[in-house]
Amino acid sequence: YDPQAPPCLTSDPLSFAWTSARERWPVILTGAIDDIHKATARSQNPEEAAEGKKITEAIATLKYELQHNRKLTPLPDDGQPDIKSYNEELEKRSNPQWHGVNWLYSECYLYRRLATIFANSTHWKQYDVFAKQKMSTFRSSRPAVLELAARYNELVNQLDGKPDPTAEVSEADKDAAEKLLFAEMCDICLWGNATDLSLLTNLTYDDIQKLQGSEARKKNEKNIITNDLDAAYTTLRDARKNNPKGDRQIDIVLDNSGFELYVDLILAGYLLHAGLATRVVLHPKNIPWFVSDVTPKDFGALLNALFDAKRLYETPSEDETAQGITPNALSDDQSILLTELFRDWAQLHADGKILLRSNIFWTAPGAYWRLPRVAPDLFADLQQSELVVFKGDLNYRKLVGDVLWDPTTPFAEAVGPLGPGSGMRTLALRTCKADVVVGLAKGKDEELRQTEGGGGDSGQRKWAWSGKYAVVSFVDGKAK
Ligand code: F6P
Ligand code: MG
Repeated sequence: YDPQAPPCLTSDPLSFAWTSARERWPVILTGAIDDIHKATARSQNPEEAAEGKKITEAIATLKYELQHNRKLTPLPDDGQPDIKSYNEELEKRSNPQWHGVNWLYSECYLYRRLATIFANSTHWKQYDVFAKQKMSTFRSSRPAVLELAARYNELVNQLDGKPDPTAEVSEADKDAAEKLLFAEMCDICLWGNATDLSLLTNLTYDDIQKLQGSEARKKNEKNIITNDLDAAYTTLRDARKNNPKGDRQIDIVLDNSGFELYVDLILAGYLLHAGLATRVVLHPKNIPWFVSDVTPKDFGALLNALFDAKRLYETPSEDETAQGITPNALSDDQSILLTELFRDWAQLHADGKILLRSNIFWTAPGAYWRLPRVAPDLFADLQQSELVVFKGDLNYRKLVGDVLWDPTTPFAEAVGPLGPGSGMRTLALRTCKADVVVGLAKGKDEELRQTEGGGGDSGQRKWAWSGKYAVVSFVDGKAK
């Protein structure tokens, strides 16, 4: 059920897995320890505080094991059915050590192990050590958030308004205009993935803002190194033509919370207002995952933040308080922009047009090649969808199995059982943050390696690690 090509391993000095296990994950765990330590210190309840200390120790133990290359130990039971399969797989992998293990499995294990620590507590079951980071990064995306809210509101008014009967526009022109708009919305949604917190462990406000906004997107267009958006658009347009009054669902397998979720909702709202879908189902994670991934709680938190945007932007953060900084006020016009946006999304949600649907499968450790076998009900649901959009790097790694494919391998082949004949249509919107990449033209990988910081002749595919480049890949598993 997994691809046969060699997997990415944390023992491979040429792979980003190597740096991840030795440098990135310890930083992430240190952040988690810091957060829980502070939360414990704030607690007024002695029992809760004592338990908080134990949790801090448990995370410190995990960090110790990781840094000292100990074995991955079986996960403790936390009552969830996936623990058994995690542990069975660990055994099948012969109880590996942190610095010599399958990258995909071990990184998923890391977050699953963290989740067991909280799940097995009494007072901290619902606590998310990454929640503060997620919201503060969203808050620091303010310029791009406002710019996009203005664009979205304008677009919704245009799409919902009556067309000018005196304007003579041919079908071909309408189609071309719609295709452009679809591409713009997908682009926004794609680049929103560049700012995830598991990769950018020391991001400043300035860095974040440089990665967002329309100017950044324009500049980045050439960095989309394979792009199947046209084919995805044509499929949705034809589905609308063939079934204008019927149900047409689009699924989005979410990635990160905050700014990325915000742009996912921009895409979802656009698809609905444009009539390219009648329902959008969003798939979050059940547990805090890869630092910034969306949980159902994050979805609520984002809507609440937009509902009370003045409070979000004008309440000083801990750092601002410490430095005596008063945040800039939100003007009335800006506040109205966000209220309008909030109303639209809240209405779509209340009407059942935007839905949230969790499934434990999304936090399993393996490739999505396993979907038909491991989660047949979910697979059957996704086969009913017009299009399943997979956001981000990790989803992409799982789609193609996180193995070292030749980069010219067609995407349709690399997704294995989700490829042609699967009955499921897949669109991946991914900024590259890991070694694996497929669907490239011959010579592209070599060309990018020769660019500055691209890896040169080191044997490392460094250009693919930073989120600077992106791939947009589509496979129509329903095609006859
Ligand atoms: O490769 C770096 C990394 O942080 C991996 O942990 C993970 O695959 C990915 O990037 C997370 O990114 P995203 O949020 O786009 O899935
Ligand atoms: Mg993520």
